[in-house]
Amino acid sequence: VRIALVQNDPEFGRVDDNLAWIRRTALGLEGPDLIVLPELCATGYLFRDRRELAKYAEPLPDGPVCRALGRLARETGAHVCGGIAEAAEGVFFNSAVLLSPEGDCRVYRKVHLFDREKTYFHPGNLPFSVAEVHGARLGVMICFDWIFPESARTLALRGAQVVLHPANLVLPYAFDAMAVRALENRVFTVTVNRTGKERGLVFRGKSVVWSPAAERLLSCPEEPGAWTVELDPGRADDKMATERNHVLEDRRPDMYSS
Ligand code: ACM
Repeated sequence: VRIALVQNDPEFGRVDDNLAWIRRTALGLEGPDLIVLPELCATGYLFRDRRELAKYAEPLPDGPVCRALGRLARETGAHVCGGIAEAAEGVFFNSAVLLSPEGDCRVYRKVHLFDREKTYFHPGNLPFSVAEVHGARLGVMICFDWIFPESARTLALRGAQVVLHPANLVLPYAFDAMAVRALENRVFTVTVNRTGKERGLVFRGKSVVWSPAAERLLSCPEEPGAWTVELDPGRADDKMATERNHVLEDRRPDMYSS
């Protein structure tokens, strides 16, 4: 499966301009099967409060950002995964969609909210789920979900071979921590991180792809741009850490309850 990482520098609130940059960049790519974008890729990240977020959050799949990304999927023939501020159930979710060229929309709502996100987003209430795309089983988690090993583990237990990880990373450890998420689950991880400065906070890009053996398959610079990687998802079906150690079957959940 050919995966394009599109690492953008969204300007807060300039949704149309941000979407135009994404579209221009994605249309220049050579035939990816899947395009992955950062968390909250079109709106920006640092909302002041719930009132400001309300101006940008949208219903899925009929909101403007989702429709634009759906159009991009149709135009490129690729699936598109990216972060969108979602309005639903009278609250707001920090969500990511997985859109097919045929118009299907799957939604994941960020389960583990980071810092001030807790003051305006509602924690995700949909299960971690897996979707098959071009023969690859894909799972989605968002940014700070990385610090809870249960996120990637749950996706791996549900059959994910590739964990897609749209992000607006703030803590510096995540890039390398994702190597451990890949290794401990024997999955590929695809972290797509935004870049640029927003309201005094600096994001570093440096999107990264890890193999099930924690090999760094792609390492992006800090600048905005797009990079493509080809993965053999079947590699993630080998769960053996040694000849005698299966990373999922050797778990001892009976020993884990607190
Ligand atoms: C984060 O979860 N966006 C740090």
